[in-house]
Amino acid sequence: IRRLALESTDAISDLRELENLRIKFLGKKGELTKVLRDMGKLSPDERPIIGGIANDIRKEIEEKIATIKETLVQEAKRAKLEKEKIDITISTNNEKLGHRHPLLSTIDELEDLFMSMGFTVISGPEIETVANNFDALNSPENHPSRDLSDTFYLNEDLVLRTHTSPVQIRAMKEMGAPLRIISAGRTFRFDDVDDTHSPMFHQLEGLVVDENVSMANLIHTLDIFIKELFGKDMKTRYRPHHFPFTEPSAEVDVSCFKCRGEGCQACNYTGWSMELLGCGMVHPQVLENCGIDSEKYTGFAFGMGIDRITMVKYGINDIRLLFENDNRFLEQF
Ligand code: PHE
Repeated sequence: IRRLALESTDAISDLRELENLRIKFLGKKGELTKVLRDMGKLSPDERPIIGGIANDIRKEIEEKIATIKETLVQEAKRAKLEKEKIDITISTNNEKLGHRHPLLSTIDELEDLFMSMGFTVISGPEIETVANNFDALNSPENHPSRDLSDTFYLNEDLVLRTHTSPVQIRAMKEMGAPLRIISAGRTFRFDDVDDTHSPMFHQLEGLVVDENVSMANLIHTLDIFIKELFGKDMKTRYRPHHFPFTEPSAEVDVSCFKCRGEGCQACNYTGWSMELLGCGMVHPQVLENCGIDSEKYTGFAFGMGIDRITMVKYGINDIRLLFENDNRFLEQF
């Protein structure tokens, strides 16, 4: 019985089999139990001897079963843990996160920058009156930008705004002076599409009106802005220019983005990158057009192309990529 029992345990691989084995040998009708029950049939001399042997064997089998049971339980536990283990390094790949469009990222960055300088962000409509887009901005009747071949007219009085400058007019009329605002948004011009032109593009407009605002304030504000945006090593250059709504007016060049002023092929070895923005002192007539006393108040304004800034910042060489919404492009940002 002993040998049989101990040998049988070797073949055991699960708890159920083990329990059957226990019943077979040690259960109420088990083989060893039978021996113990039949003790009465033995002579008084044999009884203690056989009884002792039987009890030893019982103990031995019990211990063996207990050991095997322990091993099986441990194994089952380990297998369960193994099966339920969570591999936190496995990528589930079922979450597709969207991407912020590089243009919007640029607008966010510009707005944050100007807000930190005390500007308020406002918005204006993309469909503008001819009065706001041209007349109130001093644009002469015969100015070429008014031409049908340059401007999208919806009718005689309404256009798709050709710049964000009409937001200046709205701001001054609605808020009066003093004033410190920026406004970013879509603008439209009748341009043929190429890698740097699109009939729909984006501008950011800025306007400050207060007592004693000077050209020095304008230059200081824009210099700080450009250094914050592109780096402290950026230089600026203010070239005289003409806009109907500012006097004097200037165009601002900044150091070449590639060589940072050293001179390279990209900047024709000049060290300068052309025309980052247009700016100037608000024309007194424009202030008056908006009901602001031009004897008491002065102001400066500036406008810049956001698409161009985005392209420089992200190294994009074709403006069309910004508007085609090709996922392969957008996923890179
Ligand atoms: N509106 C001008 C443009 O589109 C830029 C500008 C804005 C110039 C404000 C001066 C002041 O070119």
